[in-house]
Amino acid sequence: MRKIRIGLLGLGVVGAELANIINSNIENISEKYGVQMEIGKVFVRDLQKKRNTDIPSSKLTTNADEVLNESDIICECMGGAGTEITKEYIMRCIKSKKPVIMSSKKVIALYGKDILDLCMSQKSQIRFDATVGGGIPIAKVIKECFKGEKITKAVGILNATSNYIYSSMDKKGYSFEQALKKAQDLGYAENDPTEDIDGLDALYKVVVLTLFAMKSWVNIKELSTKSFSSIDILDMKYANELGYRIKPLAIFEKKNNKFIYRVGPCLIDEKHIAANVINNFNIIVFEGSNSGKLGFYGQGAGSMPTATAMFDDLVSVLKTNFEYETDLYEGCEIVTDYRDFRNNLYWRISVENTIGKLAHICNVFAQNSINIEKVIQKDAINGKMDVVLLTNSVDATVIDLITKEFETNQIEINTIIPFFND
Ligand SMILES: NC(=O)c1ccc[n+]([C@@H]2O[C@H](COP(=O)([O-])OP(=O)(O)OC[C@H]3O[C@@H](n4cnc5c(N)ncnc54)[C@H](OP(=O)(O)O)[C@@H]3O)[C@@H](O)[C@H]2O)c1
Repeated sequence: MRKIRIGLLGLGVVGAELANIINSNIENISEKYGVQMEIGKVFVRDLQKKRNTDIPSSKLTTNADEVLNESDIICECMGGAGTEITKEYIMRCIKSKKPVIMSSKKVIALYGKDILDLCMSQKSQIRFDATVGGGIPIAKVIKECFKGEKITKAVGILNATSNYIYSSMDKKGYSFEQALKKAQDLGYAENDPTEDIDGLDALYKVVVLTLFAMKSWVNIKELSTKSFSSIDILDMKYANELGYRIKPLAIFEKKNNKFIYRVGPCLIDEKHIAANVINNFNIIVFEGSNSGKLGFYGQGAGSMPTATAMFDDLVSVLKTNFEYETDLYEGCEIVTDYRDFRNNLYWRISVENTIGKLAHICNVFAQNSINIEKVIQKDAINGKMDVVLLTNSVDATVIDLITKEFETNQIEINTIIPFFND
């Protein structure tokens, strides 16, 4: 029987789970596919560290070359912190035509074009279905289905940490900081949560999903995010009063040969399926040219779902007998930013409770041809009151003009949040 040595780069939370899944499936795989899997060398930084797997210490090495040279298939479970070194190892595996299975969405999002171009020129196999979706097998669904149609648009809650924080603010009345602390205590947020909170984690997933859903490469350097931390508990409260929820959304669309996207807080109709996805759950709703909307819901992260998805990738390599794909992506996208979504806007404005202030606000909007669709004036506290307005879409340059005009009149814009117009 053919022997397949599987090398691992990293044996942390995900790597250890993957090693356990591989070891418990050796017989099953040999019966089904006629190959004898075996874990070969495993690259780690610290040989003495206690690990969540019984891989013998003789297999561990701090020399990545041993893994690259002595394996038939390489599983990358290190990503994250050392993205450049991970990229270097991956490129070396591809050059030696060894199939690679990846866990790191960040490495794909940052260096995916170089990696995929090399795979296509070397005719080498790469799989990275596990990098996005976690327990939602979204990449496999896209690859197996949607053969006769195009995915044109997607909206998702792709980051579990920010969704947990928003749910806690909304349901329990926590401040953003209190909710973040709770998420960290429960293990839903990293000690350094910057990438989750600033929307970078969701942005990496948008890049990877665009590869899967639209076969297009988007240069992440052209994308930006609006931090999820820009939301106050008052915004949650007012949005709810108006029949909306504020959610940490990632939206992307291909329109007139351009890639339009937004990653940041958005108001969404309370009846929309994504408005009701709470805590650490994720959702991705695709719009297919023939099927219309299709939603996929589940736990989007976690070491066990990721390791399980990596094992599925490993089985796919065995099933396809190491065959490579020639069309990992079909083209690069020209990016235009979220303002092109032309979304309606929510404004929370603080103003002194004096005669004529509200009229002044309405006048400024009218002078800039902005239609106010709804307005709520809240009770004044210590002489100041919140005014909440829902308007039609407004160009960024006009927002800048209005902000300046208001500043000279001691009117403060606290928050502007776009709507997700389905
Ligand atoms: N954890 C999750 O829930 C999750 C979910 C989805 C995707 N992922 C992805 O899975 C990958 C692994 O995540 P993890 O949570 O398993 O991480 P982890 O626990 O920190 O493990 C990282 C492993 O890589 C090894 N390593 C070697 N060189 C490294 C370097 N320069 N920088 C960082 N690590 C190095 C570490 O060695 P030592 O053990 O000796 O330190 C460790 O074994 C990442 O790409 C991550 O984005 C993780």
